[in-house]
Amino acid sequence: HTRKRLVMGNWKMHGSLAANAALLDGLAAGAMRAGETQLAVCVPFPYLAQAQAALAGTPISWGAQDVSVHTQGAYTGEVAPAMLADFGVTWALCGHSERRALHGESSDLVAAKAASALAAGLTPVVCVGETLADRDADQVERVIGEQLAPVLALGAEALARLVIAYEPVWAIGTGRTATPEQAQAVHAFIRAALAQHGAGQTRILYGGSVKAANAASLFAQPDIDGALVGGASLVADEFLNIAAAVA
Ligand code: G3H
Repeated sequence: HTRKRLVMGNWKMHGSLAANAALLDGLAAGAMRAGETQLAVCVPFPYLAQAQAALAGTPISWGAQDVSVHTQGAYTGEVAPAMLADFGVTWALCGHSERRALHGESSDLVAAKAASALAAGLTPVVCVGETLADRDADQVERVIGEQLAPVLALGAEALARLVIAYEPVWAIGTGRTATPEQAQAVHAFIRAALAQHGAGQTRILYGGSVKAANAASLFAQPDIDGALVGGASLVADEFLNIAAAVA
């Protein structure tokens, strides 16, 4: 496997100053267990300063769960990419399925957010994934292809600087992981689309009920370059065990 592995936590809307302190300390103390695998956590906006203070000087980087498409101005409640950069942020999730579903984010907006993040020197992690209805109707490649299209249109230079996360909606928070073969098939499809746009080495993470017990079989797949972890990223030991499971 030539691409550097990446295991990224997405805390979603969980945490408190007290709970985060324990979690961040546990991560910092155990970071060496990840070996060559890159570790990152995407925390709620108010806790970016806390993550920065706890993780600066460790091998663990931190990120945001969303980013504005705008650089500044009258956009109440939005957070600009340069503001994230002010807090040492490396990563910005773009188009997590929860934002697509609950906040009506279109694939065009998601791609624009990725461009906005890139312009500020952040690395976007663009999330794509089909629903169970899509899968049952044999529409996986059509849906993923539509979600990817405006991202691919950003061009090879941008694509080489971002990360894609494949998260089947039916596997998120359900305990129902895609089988390694199901995940690999979609990762190979995404890889081919990236390669057609001159970015065959862009990293592709899998997300959806990843835990230490299933991580090794996912990471053994040739086109799975790491994981985007929700629930299991809230427990330091479990999260580090996922990173340690890299084949
Ligand atoms: O961003 C993370 C994903 O939505 C996966 O969440 O690991 O709790 O299933 P989960």
